[in-house]
Amino acid sequence: MQALTRQLGDVIPLPVSVRPDPAANFRISSDLSVSAAPEAADLAEQLAELLRRVTGRPVSRTSGEDAGSFRILLDGYDKNLDQNPDQNPDQNLDAYDRSGKPAEAYAIEINPESVTLRAGSNQGLFAALQTLRQLLPEEPADEIVLPGGRIEDEPRFAYRGTMLDLARHFFGPADIRSFIDSIAQLKINHLHLHLTDDQGWRLEIPGWPRLTEVGGGPGTGVDGAGPGFLTMQEYADLVAYAAARYVTIVPEIDMPGHVNIVQVAYPELTADGRPVPPRTDAEVGYSSLVAGKEETYAFVEDVIRAVSDLTPGPYLHIGGDEAFSTPPEDYRTFLRRVLPLAGKYGKRAIGWHEIAAADLPPTAIPQYWRIEPADGGVAQAAAAGHQVIMSPADRTYLDMKYDRDSPLGLDWAGLLGVERAYDWDPADRLPGVGEESLLGVEAPLWSETLRSLADVQFMAFPRLAAIAEVGWTPRADREWRSFRARLAALGPRWTAQGINFHRSPEIDWL
Ligand code: ACM
Repeated sequence: MQALTRQLGDVIPLPVSVRPDPAANFRISSDLSVSAAPEAADLAEQLAELLRRVTGRPVSRTSGEDAGSFRILLDGYDKNLDQNPDQNPDQNLDAYDRSGKPAEAYAIEINPESVTLRAGSNQGLFAALQTLRQLLPEEPADEIVLPGGRIEDEPRFAYRGTMLDLARHFFGPADIRSFIDSIAQLKINHLHLHLTDDQGWRLEIPGWPRLTEVGGGPGTGVDGAGPGFLTMQEYADLVAYAAARYVTIVPEIDMPGHVNIVQVAYPELTADGRPVPPRTDAEVGYSSLVAGKEETYAFVEDVIRAVSDLTPGPYLHIGGDEAFSTPPEDYRTFLRRVLPLAGKYGKRAIGWHEIAAADLPPTAIPQYWRIEPADGGVAQAAAAGHQVIMSPADRTYLDMKYDRDSPLGLDWAGLLGVERAYDWDPADRLPGVGEESLLGVEAPLWSETLRSLADVQFMAFPRLAAIAEVGWTPRADREWRSFRARLAALGPRWTAQGINFHRSPEIDWL
């Protein structure tokens, strides 16, 4: 009997239902084949590629949904029919639709004859593949035994995100693609790109060339150390790359504050039309678009139209944070004009939770980011039916130092160790903002102290794995000791993938 590569539940995020059947282990043999419905051909190829890599053996593709040793079934699943998945697939599909399971729901069945991945959508199959990947070794092995039994799984929250700050330091397409590859394995399904701030503007906008000539040029970013920008084509390519991994890009254009570089590039957007000097320090709250100027809205509408045109996903983030130099009445005037522009171009507006001080369109989403135990504005928005994204800085900000010795990061929200990132619940973080109000959870990574992809990885991993489980796994099933043990096994996997994760002393790394 070969040693098992992994136990069935050794997965992050922990699946909803894990039913091991030790008598039903599947031993990978030499005749490996993958079968799938034509609509799941991409997933089948990804699975075949994964199997070729870890087994070092040829893997054939067979036609017909249930002919292979690995089977991909795109017909949903139903708990009552699961003993015989071939029985009446039409009925299965009905059951799937009526059950209202989210698109990411999936099941994995492992028995001595076959391994079956089932879902009602390719998105669910992709989630299943991420789970299966963690049950396989990361590096080629001669003997591989998959644990027998059944997993049924679906996410707690639809939105499980992270954010990369491209403004304080620019990270190029190759770095962003690598980050997308890493987060998708944890079932993180949204990547928020903070594209603009006082120190840099990182996305080309038609008709406003100086935004990126000036805002992406040499000397931009904090300490002038992070120049660069995405062309429209590069951005579109990234959106497509992310979409192929079921990651939705959420672009952010931060306003009315955090706009110094805009006013350097286009002085007509300042209050008196006079040029302002560029700044590369990390101060906040000193710049503002001018609510009483029509030029402001012509600019903003051009930008929102362009970004919306390039972004197939449903969300557009308009920032709205720390507008300390915008008088409160001007802030409300500005947002009253700007928030509806997202809807005009087909997007749902997200804003940092300060936007709750303005009149919100019904679909607008405040994102809570502070450390206070309560927030009246967000509670009021939730009571009015708004969905909320939870990103409390003292639990989710990946730019906080892990401990006093962390070489990178800030500490204004306190130190953020792995257990602290794990051991909290989004549904009781703010009074008046319960489970039913939450769209989900996001872990932002600001880049004032970061200079490379290795720095990004060091801050994101392992804490993003904690947030991924907070967002996916039912609250009652989450337990730090279990997570800590499963996380230890992710270390060698990250090492094999070349990910510069932080070897936190909180974890007994394997
Ligand atoms: C923020 O951290 N200013 C959203």
